[in-house]
Amino acid sequence: MNIDNIKKEFPIFDEKIQNNDLVYLDSANSSQKPKVVIDRINEFYTKQFSNVGRSVHYLAVAATNLYENTRTSVQRYINANDKNEIVFTKGATEALNLVANTLGQNYLQEGDEILITELEHHSNYVPWHFLRKSKNIKINFAEINEFGEITLDEIEKKITPKTKIISVTHLSNVTGAILPIKEITELAHSKDIIVVVDGCQGAPHLKLDMQDLDCDFYAISCHKMYGPTGLGVLYGKKKWLEELPPYQGGGGMINEVKKDRISYGDLPNKYEAGTMATAQVIAFDQSIKFLESVGIDNCDET
Ligand SMILES: Cc1ncc(COP(=O)(O)O)c(C=O)c1O
Repeated sequence: MNIDNIKKEFPIFDEKIQNNDLVYLDSANSSQKPKVVIDRINEFYTKQFSNVGRSVHYLAVAATNLYENTRTSVQRYINANDKNEIVFTKGATEALNLVANTLGQNYLQEGDEILITELEHHSNYVPWHFLRKSKNIKINFAEINEFGEITLDEIEKKITPKTKIISVTHLSNVTGAILPIKEITELAHSKDIIVVVDGCQGAPHLKLDMQDLDCDFYAISCHKMYGPTGLGVLYGKKKWLEELPPYQGGGGMINEVKKDRISYGDLPNKYEAGTMATAQVIAFDQSIKFLESVGIDNCDET
């Protein structure tokens, strides 16, 4: 691997910032974009633009195919069992809100408990806090040890008979600690607890295998993966995505709309209401291919 060659893929490093070469150390917040991603957005708007999934003209069918190709690439990247387990959202924040909101509507009861950790980003705390308010559920916190880690023992200690959901980060954006998701999931599932993972930092750094991790939900932020802003991915096990209610209502997520009844579309449309971030999704395919060409083992600096 040649770092200089990888750097050349990013046009922003040709820029001088206040007459200096750019040194960018904020990728955990949002990564810079390689030329292939920038060019793909330009090419789509210049030569291929159409909304997806709604029309039958040439451009619409072609754009829909491109959009769905990215879904297949994400499925490959995270080794999900089924392409329809991949839902596009506007970010990891929306993905986590979708999970908390729909589980709150259909699954949680007053008095239930959710276990998160002291390491969580606001995006994996505030959506659960909404349920604390609206459904009177309790949030418990697994505590970090002196190395900034959350151990399996600490998770086990904080589980109670009322714990219904464990929602944890995969790789901490604060300490860099990696949580033992597979072991947490094994433990949780033995007690019928759902596992939600904030994979914002995991997805750009760790080899992901949803079938091996076996978690129920995994949230991804595309702008931290050399991809466009305004885009996230929610992986959800098919049984949950089928069982839970839609998150937002609108065009694209319905099957039949009558004055007295509405039925919802199949997966993943049920969770993709309205015009989606089409250009971003299509360009994200290039981000995944870029990451695959660099090799995920070369991205893991932990
Ligand atoms: C650990 C973690 N979770 C969630 C988020 C929110 O992601 P997004 O910007 O895609 O909504 C971030 C981004 O800062 C993050 O680092």
